[in-house]
Amino acid sequence: MTISTLTLTRPDDWHLHLRDGEALEAVVGHSARQFARAIIMPNLKPPVTTTAQALAYRERILAALDKSGDGQSFTPLMTLYLTDNTAAEEIARARESGAVYAVKLYPAGATTNSDAGVTDLLGRCGKVLETMEKLGMPLLTHGEATDPAIDVFDREKVFIDRVMIPLRRAFPGLKVVFEHITTADAAQYVRDAEGPIAATITPQHLLYNRNALFQGGVRPHWYCLPVLKRETHRQALVEVATSGNPRFFLGTDSAPHARGLKEHACGCAGCFTGLHAMELYAKAFDDAGRLDALEGFASFHGPDFYGLPRNTGKLTLVREPFRIPDELPFGLQTIVPLAGGETLPWRVSI
Ligand code: NCD
Ligand code: ZN
Repeated sequence: MTISTLTLTRPDDWHLHLRDGEALEAVVGHSARQFARAIIMPNLKPPVTTTAQALAYRERILAALDKSGDGQSFTPLMTLYLTDNTAAEEIARARESGAVYAVKLYPAGATTNSDAGVTDLLGRCGKVLETMEKLGMPLLTHGEATDPAIDVFDREKVFIDRVMIPLRRAFPGLKVVFEHITTADAAQYVRDAEGPIAATITPQHLLYNRNALFQGGVRPHWYCLPVLKRETHRQALVEVATSGNPRFFLGTDSAPHARGLKEHACGCAGCFTGLHAMELYAKAFDDAGRLDALEGFASFHGPDFYGLPRNTGKLTLVREPFRIPDELPFGLQTIVPLAGGETLPWRVSI
């Protein structure tokens, strides 16, 4: 029997870019409509490297939410951007604030606004990692090796060997989230490794393989980092996401960039899915015949890993066509949602 409505415990987004200023005001209401909480990425310009900056950014998010009319329903969970110079005391301050929930590792040069990122994790950040391990503060990794000699499609696998395994050997009690995994290698690593490890998976990596980037021509709105991989990897991600394994949970990596910066000679990396994340995930789980596994992935595994209470509210999806808008306002510019103009089989009911 095909079901026509699906009511879930209200989900959370464990990896979200909200930006700042007008862009923040344009996108925050979309995420608040779908999610109760979100882990907010710190890769602003300049990056959010201190607790004081994270608290100020949190206030700007709450003010933007008020303006959008979605104020009460959404809690931003802040993060710090790890640099070579982050002090161990900053981690203690972050923990004491009660508003900072994780620290983000951007290997220097790996992605959008990562210039201030870490150049040598174990060499430069040992004290900080030790403090995080002690305080139970999770490390969120952008898991790509940055050596330009490594093929862009192999960077995640090389990261596991060169960074992830040595890191977790040195700090076995450190909570680590392997963010936006894209390969069978990462899926297997997270499934089988010892200790406190989990992974987030985006909707685009569950729904598309790398052909989507080149279908009928170059399609910049399907370009994100880590880049989409071949079909066998997509299938491995669907397998773990729908398996019920609590190590895998929802993180959209919704990463808005103005239309002009995506449709550009050197287009920015990032897919905007803040508008329709749950519709996209519902399609991926439905296609796999595993709608029954969506609630665990979207609403339970994330808070359980972070040691936070599960939400008490609900979110209902109905099996009705949802036409993704071609574009949306984004300050004075516009933004193109992933798969804009296409129709999805499920929509979030208001
Ligand atoms: C993100 C962004 O635009 O901030 N882009 C992306 O392609 N995912 C950065 C990131 O998470 O890598
Ligand atoms: Zn991201």
